[in-house]
Amino acid sequence: MKKLFGVLGNPIGHSMSPVMHNDLFSLYDINAIYLPFQVKEEDLSDAVIGLRAIGAGGFNVTVPHKSKIIPFLDEVDELAASIGAVNTVVNRDGKLIGFNTDGLGFLKGLNEIVPKIEGKRILVIGAGGAARAIFFTLAKESPIQMDIANRTVEKAARLIEECPYSISSKALTIEEAGSNLGHYDLVIQTTMIGMAPKITEQPLSLKNLNPHSVICDIIYNPLETSLLREARERGAKVQNGIDMFVYQGALAFEKWTGISPDIQRMKENVLGQLGGK
Ligand code: ATR
Repeated sequence: MKKLFGVLGNPIGHSMSPVMHNDLFSLYDINAIYLPFQVKEEDLSDAVIGLRAIGAGGFNVTVPHKSKIIPFLDEVDELAASIGAVNTVVNRDGKLIGFNTDGLGFLKGLNEIVPKIEGKRILVIGAGGAARAIFFTLAKESPIQMDIANRTVEKAARLIEECPYSISSKALTIEEAGSNLGHYDLVIQTTMIGMAPKITEQPLSLKNLNPHSVICDIIYNPLETSLLREARERGAKVQNGIDMFVYQGALAFEKWTGISPDIQRMKENVLGQLGGK
């Protein structure tokens, strides 16, 4: 019998996950289908009850349900619980278990251009759910320092306090981070600023950027944000959000099927959907 997988979100129409996972199911000859489900917040509990009742193999959870899903699951792994967000659910013999593959997905993508995080000075811009997943995951990798800049500085300070791994870290205003930018080896942009359609927006000034640094933006639409374009023009190495998206999906696929999928093929598939190369 065909196994059902899917993604719960609202809106969900533009999700690239269905094409990515369905291609993998066919590549590995797995009798399964992955569908997008648009679910309103007030229907989230019913959606989970329904997926459980029909024996879905698992599902992804995206904006705005990543935190709200937690009370409806049977178990949440330690990392996802500390982040306070689940993006992947696995049905193990009727038990729904929540994981978060966003942070590790980001790290795996980052490792393609920065193999070692240990000893690095890092700046994270933003203090939302994506920033939490990335910060908690990278904190385990022993950077020498990892600061957070956020419009609401208190939120950055809370994120640092709640991180289960102790590292040297300061909460900064966007202006403080901008004037101190030359200090960092790695800058990670996690907010929605610069995402289509507002593609000219930039979260901070790059005037003081260290040209030897690496800048990552978790946005992939557009493929090159205004921030990344300027960073590239200033000589920095840049990475867009495709790698994080593909690796978080690959980690979810592995949890559902036990197969570690073909990353290159997934990237080409996603780039094809976005009209890139
Ligand atoms: P996600 O879970 O996708 O990371 P989120 O929890 O809504 O999303 O967090 C969004 C992040 O983008 C936050 O850091 C937010 O800053 P605040 O904590 O001050 O709200 C940041 N952000 C969103 N819009 C912004 C804007 N126009 N200017 C500056 N920061 C913005």
